[in-house]
Amino acid sequence: MRLFTTITALRCDLTVRKAQRPDGTVGFVPTLGNLHLGHLSLIRRAKLDNDIVVVSVFVNPLQFGPQEDFKQYPRTLEQDLKRCEETGVDVVFSPAPEILLGSSLLSSPTATPTSTLDLPTRTQVIPPQSMTDRLCGSARPGHFPGVTTIVAKLLNIVRPNRVYFGQKDAQQLAIIRRMVADLDWPVEVIACPIVRETSGLALSSRNRYLSPEQRQQAEALYRSLVRGEQIFNQGILSAAAIKQAVWSELSNVSVLKVDYVELVDPETLKPIQNIEEAGLLAVAAYIGSTRLIDNIVLRNRRPILAIDGPAGAGKSTVTRRLSEALGLMYLDTGAMYRAVTWLAMQSQVALQDEPAIAELVHQCQIDLVPQQDTLQVLINQQDVTEGIRSPEVTANVSTLAAQPAVRQALVKQQQSYGRKGGIVAEGRDIGTYVFPMRN
Ligand code: PAF
Repeated sequence: MRLFTTITALRCDLTVRKAQRPDGTVGFVPTLGNLHLGHLSLIRRAKLDNDIVVVSVFVNPLQFGPQEDFKQYPRTLEQDLKRCEETGVDVVFSPAPEILLGSSLLSSPTATPTSTLDLPTRTQVIPPQSMTDRLCGSARPGHFPGVTTIVAKLLNIVRPNRVYFGQKDAQQLAIIRRMVADLDWPVEVIACPIVRETSGLALSSRNRYLSPEQRQQAEALYRSLVRGEQIFNQGILSAAAIKQAVWSELSNVSVLKVDYVELVDPETLKPIQNIEEAGLLAVAAYIGSTRLIDNIVLRNRRPILAIDGPAGAGKSTVTRRLSEALGLMYLDTGAMYRAVTWLAMQSQVALQDEPAIAELVHQCQIDLVPQQDTLQVLINQQDVTEGIRSPEVTANVSTLAAQPAVRQALVKQQQSYGRKGGIVAEGRDIGTYVFPMRN
């Protein structure tokens, strides 16, 4: 593992690594440091998905308000490096503030910017106000522009194929997804589940500010979300009723100063009245001066389950059986790759011509129609159920399946299937829930 503190050295190292492995992918985990099991779960996922894993450790002054804990925030680089090394990270990037923010702004302690609002002369990335003026944004003005400005810089420096964020900061996740989509950046944003203590308390670097008694009191956050989920599972979809259940659980702990209880659309963060597809139920509360957040996604739709593992582990059999047992659609992702291979061959596009294949795939429509015992496969409304099993398609499908543009387009289509009615499929890319298998 290598540690870099300058942008030039990091870029140089990544250029060399990419030259050594031209097809290798880079997974990036940005952090504020003080790594705990939550961060390590992001790193482990990044390792599973990629050839090179980069972690940044940078306490970003731009995302802390003037009254917040920037100075006090735990800085534990040595311990972080040890954890990264043990988890198999390839590169850690830990720059001093002046490297990322410029020395003129930081020349005297009083000039240290404590939020993007203090940076009138610098370019900033400002997320849409509709996503920042609620939830944590109301109590922390300047926080999200501070996050997006630094994440934009880090993405531009590291240029990863995939970047990993925890679902715990659900508002941050939604805002970063939006930034990446709006600015057409070629990076996949991967969300990883919240890691909790056995008590339910979500892991957070700020938990270390809590006394043992406060820790116990903090458990009420997750308990209140579970209460909301129970109401939802009883078939109550009204936001008012669900939020009421959360409030009533929180009010049992008098020392909690609740900042908000919100139910919003997980992508747009707009408040919802009733849960149609999914709702993000989020809470924030102070215990003493420590501000804690937690959330849970309530899904009013059938799940997308992905079975992942090495060749020969029995993924197809498990996928098929699970779909039968759960009454979910078996999504044959292999058939989709075969269908685009068939289309490319029919269209006489050279299979190595990735840009031409990308054009073709991003404009095609694949339909999988369950029949009595089989799955009918249509591409652009043409029935190719038999054609995709030909030896020519079999010989060429792996060439297309290896192309990132093909995977990206098909994953989008697979997810839209999942949203319609729930699916079980092979491959970790599409899953809301991913189940790894071993040989
Ligand atoms: O979630 C965090 O740790 C930070 O907000 C991030 C994404 C590293 C940006 O500083």
